[in-house]
Amino acid sequence: MRMYDIIDKKKFAGSLTDEEINFAVKNFVDGKIPDYQMSALLMAIWFNGLDERELTALTTAMAHSGDMIDLSAIGGKKVDKHSTGGVGDKTTLIVAPIVAACGGKVAKMSGRGLGHTGGTVDKLESIPGYRTELTRQEFFDTVNTCGLSLIGQSGNLAPADKKIYALRDVTATVDSLPLIASSIMSKKLAAGSDCILLDVKTGSGAFMKNLDDAIKLAETMVSIGENAGRRTVALITDMDTPLGFGIGNSIEVVESMDVLKNRGADDLTKISLELAANMLYLVDKGTLEDCRKLAEKSIVDGSAFETFCKMVKAQGGDDSVLRDYDKFPKATYSREILADGNGFVAKMNAELLGKISVMLGAGRETKDSPIDYSAGIILRKKFGDEVHAGESLATLYCSDEKLFNAAEKNFRAAVEVGEKTETRPLIFARVELNHTEKF
Ligand code: URA
Repeated sequence: MRMYDIIDKKKFAGSLTDEEINFAVKNFVDGKIPDYQMSALLMAIWFNGLDERELTALTTAMAHSGDMIDLSAIGGKKVDKHSTGGVGDKTTLIVAPIVAACGGKVAKMSGRGLGHTGGTVDKLESIPGYRTELTRQEFFDTVNTCGLSLIGQSGNLAPADKKIYALRDVTATVDSLPLIASSIMSKKLAAGSDCILLDVKTGSGAFMKNLDDAIKLAETMVSIGENAGRRTVALITDMDTPLGFGIGNSIEVVESMDVLKNRGADDLTKISLELAANMLYLVDKGTLEDCRKLAEKSIVDGSAFETFCKMVKAQGGDDSVLRDYDKFPKATYSREILADGNGFVAKMNAELLGKISVMLGAGRETKDSPIDYSAGIILRKKFGDEVHAGESLATLYCSDEKLFNAAEKNFRAAVEVGEKTETRPLIFARVELNHTEKF
């Protein structure tokens, strides 16, 4: 078998056999196929796509290129969650303890911030002492005793994806539906949970800017998951404006705890409850309606919050900061952004706001940049809200006052006050195998 022939076949839109796909992935990971040949294949896939069988073969080959995590030491059904990434998307911190408090098991490996989007691991590390690196045994023990554990990606999880993603990043092949689907699902399959809930974002702050593409991506990922024997459901949710009011690491932990204390932002609470209900549905806790009630109850009775605190303590973190937010290290400086005129918030570009929060220190400019956990943005107005001149639109936080002028200029480009415009739905669709329901 020759890589040349595989590239040539896909160039003419041929359907690759499972053997050809396995050959390409395995030999690329082993360093026997050079980057330029894999890049050519990726571009041929970008133009000609993959059918369902090819996609399953590619995803499976990528998942099996490294460790396949065996979660059988954890009792009960395990459910994972994946968000395609967003700004102010702190839902993992909320839904994982809700699901655990209702009897589901969440053994979750999360990522760090990427580009303008935040990462769960960075948020968790803003909690003093919290360890995102555990041994395999500590990870299993924490899930068995607390119902959940949230850690960083460890070990050799889907190394084929890591190598392929690095090539895609520099060969203009990131924006390919089959390549995104196989990249995400290979990591989810390797991570070992029985069931997977996907939160596919759409809007200005998301990979998938339009709804039809987001639905197609969700349907593709659901069929990959189901073909691999994992129950998989996807929700398509809005990422045109940030979720909740906070963007930044400790800022988002505080906002998430407010949801768990039953005093959270409406949009964030609503999406979190729907995600949690779908995860509970996947692990057979009843009908979706039953699961919604269970999820709500865990917030009202405080059990989800206590479950989160228990996990934080088990992983070395200081849970007292979650009860008394003043104990979180504070940003040295803040600046209010005041509205120039009257009107309604008519534009609030999530991607730009994510970039501003990175500029302020909440994300990494380069792979190794340190993070300022207290930096970020608290919005005082949301998309569609009425605004009067002189009112605060947002507060910016950082530890270097010199960053504020550029950040304010960018903020004013990201947020416009003008005519009243229609708000968008929070949840657009739900995708199960062979069934897509649009709301
Ligand atoms: N997230 C991933 O993990 N992979 C992609 O290709 C895109 C988003």
